[in-house]
Amino acid sequence: MQDRLIIFDTTLRDGEQAPGIALTPEEKVAIAGQLARLKVDVIEAGFAASSPGDFESVSRIAAEVKGPVIASLARTHPDDIDRAWDALREAEKARIHVFNSTSPIHMERMLKMTPEEVLQSVVEGVRRARDYCEDVEFSPQDATRSDPDFVVAVCRAAVEAGATTINIPDTVGYATPTEFVELMSRVYDEVRGGREDVIVSTHCHNDLGLAVANSLAAVSAGARQIEGAINGIGERAGNTSTEEVIMAIKTRQDRFGVEIAADTTQILETSRLVSRLTGYPVQFNKAVVGRNAFAHESGIHQHGVLQDRETYEIMDAASVGQESQIVVGKHSGRAGFADALRKMDIALDDEEFKRAFARVKDLADRKVEINEEEIRAIVNEEARDIDEVVRFVSMKVAGGSAVAPQASVRVEARGLTLEFEGEGDGMVHATFDALKKAFGIDAKLVDYRVVPITKGADAMAEINVVVRMGGDIFAGRSVSTDVVEGSARAFVHALNKAARTVISDSVMDNL
Ligand code: KIV
Ligand code: ZN
Repeated sequence: MQDRLIIFDTTLRDGEQAPGIALTPEEKVAIAGQLARLKVDVIEAGFAASSPGDFESVSRIAAEVKGPVIASLARTHPDDIDRAWDALREAEKARIHVFNSTSPIHMERMLKMTPEEVLQSVVEGVRRARDYCEDVEFSPQDATRSDPDFVVAVCRAAVEAGATTINIPDTVGYATPTEFVELMSRVYDEVRGGREDVIVSTHCHNDLGLAVANSLAAVSAGARQIEGAINGIGERAGNTSTEEVIMAIKTRQDRFGVEIAADTTQILETSRLVSRLTGYPVQFNKAVVGRNAFAHESGIHQHGVLQDRETYEIMDAASVGQESQIVVGKHSGRAGFADALRKMDIALDDEEFKRAFARVKDLADRKVEINEEEIRAIVNEEARDIDEVVRFVSMKVAGGSAVAPQASVRVEARGLTLEFEGEGDGMVHATFDALKKAFGIDAKLVDYRVVPITKGADAMAEINVVVRMGGDIFAGRSVSTDVVEGSARAFVHALNKAARTVISDSVMDNL
């Protein structure tokens, strides 16, 4: 068997569990398509039994995204496994990922199960999954705080029952690299043994900032699958960063000596898409994908890099997808914009093109040049679901130190143009007040973030809002050089998602 490392990406399952992320099925399909272009080996598309939305996302990705294995998480409960298979049945290659906890604190306090009951549930769960498909992964949750003898016993039972991948999670990011290598070596020797058909895998969380280091250390102990999420997103401090693992393996072939299939030139595009759709900014100094990852500030460094890039760079920026910039400006016409889109490999239908072009022209009046990142942000916004209940048209605000902040927003709904007034503590607040009246639904703002996406005084910012209505949360986002207008558009995006779920009488009354 070839010595290959499997890249298992869980951005859409564990990554999406990060607070404030609420991806729609369409957005998940878009990310899964990009992960396929990045050529990850496995996409964990969700936890099918956890919600109707997750079920829909897993089913759509299974049916629409070809290339990688598509996985769904499942507890050992029969219903979870049946649901996972229902969602996966159209996949070209499917995997059911079964888990149960093995640490004393999880078994006693959370599951209220004895170790014997956990072991029995794992055997039954894995067998049931194997009845549906040949590719079954098992994870002993909280493995690093479990008795290693018990982890080995449960994993052996899982292999006996038919599991083909044994994944060891450091669920709470507690392990140190040397300690993790000890546990992984035991699993490799005592569970896999000589069985070539069993892959040992690792899944690390970043609570102590050690997720990538622990995952890579596990390779030396025989792990041949690493689980991670793009930009390292996930519960609490997040997961292992998929892109950091890919680049570490590629850059340090001399140490790891394992092959990976990933197309590294797709890394930046994937990172940006995930950041845009989740609303989670990428820190400037983030390894591989941060804005400064290939920037040189000090004179000595700049001088060195000009003589020879490798004086201060261990990776080539182009190898992760940092290519020369495509720019459109005030004087670019429809043909110029269409040409830029072609070069960027973006296909839009006529309606999407019309909307994106109008936004680009509007922006070009305020700014000299619009770069690739800004074009992508606008296209992404204009190409998204356009069956809006209420459409933002324009707005006016008054504020400053002498005037009480007021906003007037113009919207379109059912062919009518309507205006609503609002007041608040600031201009953004007043705008949101006016828009709430336009929608007439009881949605509460729970998160609001503004992140610059380009540099300079005329920088574009991405605005992310999260609203809660009933028990559900809805995320909205927009990009603009004007933070108040961008905030209005993002709020309208979120409220449209909420409104579509109710189309309440109050919305209709406003129309
Ligand atoms: O962190 C964890 O333990 C998990 C498992 C469900 C694999 O995400
Ligand atoms: Zn996890």
